[in-house]
Amino acid sequence: MSFYEPETVVCNGSLFRLYITKEQLDKRVSELAREISRDYKDKKPIFIGILNGAFIFLADLMRHVSIPCEVDFFKLSSYGDEKVSSGHVTERKDLDADVEGRHIVLIEDIVDTGLSMKYMVDRIREKNPASVTVMTLLHKPDATKHYVNVEYVGFQIPTLFVLGYGMDFAQEGRNLPQIYVIDDEYEKKF
Ligand code: PRP
Repeated sequence: MSFYEPETVVCNGSLFRLYITKEQLDKRVSELAREISRDYKDKKPIFIGILNGAFIFLADLMRHVSIPCEVDFFKLSSYGDEKVSSGHVTERKDLDADVEGRHIVLIEDIVDTGLSMKYMVDRIREKNPASVTVMTLLHKPDATKHYVNVEYVGFQIPTLFVLGYGMDFAQEGRNLPQIYVIDDEYEKKF
């Protein structure tokens, strides 16, 4: 473990402990890329990252995708600077790509209550794509309030507050290369 990959970090005054290592992330992200490359061969999908959280996962995923594809971004916000969802979604940036008749893969860092992803799936379907599929690095099935079918999941996790690898606490911590869990929830991991 190097200095730059610590076991604990402090973010906005809260202690977080290492939860998913860089090695585990690298392995799982390349597996997901292989799966999607196999399933979307000859479909030239558009991968749509949901900003901000998905930017690191999507970037790493793309490096392992071996088929022709396109990338675009949609920006939503539902958490603001809080640890729990505000319960409503704000659109901050629309797509540039024309998705009509195209195969779309929506990419999230985390599906928690499902609010954001349900919103995105409905929003994309309005634009008449050929298909819409969801991929998320993390999924908290126990936190579901808005059901959405998630076809590709990196890791299923309990209802924990996580940080790093694109995910923030009041906008900080996205640059951490590994995933951390807030200390007062650390025990629930076992
Ligand atoms: C986070 C995360 C997902 C969403 C998941 O985004 O990136 O988009 O919350 O939670 P949900 O399933 O309860 O909707 P956030 O609104 O915090 O914005 P960010 O991506 O800019 O951090």
